[in-house]
Parts: sequence; structure tokens; C-alpha cells
Amino acid sequence: MRIAFGCDHAGFAIKEKLINYIKSIGNEIIDCGTYSSKSCDYTDFALKVAQNVVSKKADKGILICGTGIGMSIAANKVKGIRAAVCWNKETATLISQHNDANIICAGARFASVEDICSWIKIFLETKFEERHLKRINKISQIEQQN
Ligand code: RB5
Repeated sequence: MRIAFGCDHAGFAIKEKLINYIKSIGNEIIDCGTYSSKSCDYTDFALKVAQNVVSKKADKGILICGTGIGMSIAANKVKGIRAAVCWNKETATLISQHNDANIICAGARFASVEDICSWIKIFLETKFEERHLKRINKISQIEQQN
């Protein structure tokens, strides 16, 4: 898969390890930054990753900030994005199975790099369950109408 990766300064410390891991399990990376530990705005990287996903340059996206929350709020402003924060293996599974998330968000200040790697693997490998399609369509309707 082609994966768009983005982080802010809070995620930068684990960026290299995450990217190496994602590549080691057979994926290509589109590196959307940040490129140093200098303080920056998570919004800029959320937007770049989201644009790569909606334009289909990337199959899925990964966003890492301190909590994962700012990244998800910002990315979800882009039409067609379903960015979901996860915090354990179960939520990493459910964001794919139930929510058809196209971006996973995680918090570098609240989880180990090993845990985040395991959530990413689950997110990439877990399939959407069609029985939830009606709700995903309703999310698209909300986007169209508001
Ligand atoms: C940066 O200090 C922090 O606010 C950011 O990484 C993120 O956690 C925001 O949601």
C-alpha cells in the first residue's frame, strides 16, 4: 500500500522508527513532514496527508501528534476523510471494521512506539465490514449537506 505519513514536533521523535516499520511490512511511504523537532502546527501535516488520501495518491494515511486528537480534528475537515484516533488494539481494529477510517491518528505522548506500530499494522490489515456501510453513507451525506 502507499501510505501518507505526517506528524508534528510531538510525533517527530518516533517518526523514523514508525516509517521504517511501515516500510518493513511492505508499504511505500509518502513523507508529508514534519522534518525536524522544531515546533510546528499539526494542522499543516493533517491537511497534506488528507489531500494525499482524497486524491488517491495514497491508499491510507497516518498522523501522529501529541494526542492524535488535533490531527484527527483537522484531517476530518477535508471531505472524504474519516480520521480516527485509536489507543489500543481493539480500537485500531474497530476504526477499520466499523468506521472505514482512511487515516489513523495516534498520540506519541501517550503510547510507546511499539504499541503505535502494532495499531498501524492492525489498521492496515483489517477490512471494513459492509454491514456498516449505511452509516458511512450517512457521514458522507452530512458532509454534502453542511
Ligand atoms: C503540541 O504541543 C500538541 O498540542 C499537539 O501535538 C497535539 O497533541 C494536538 O492535538
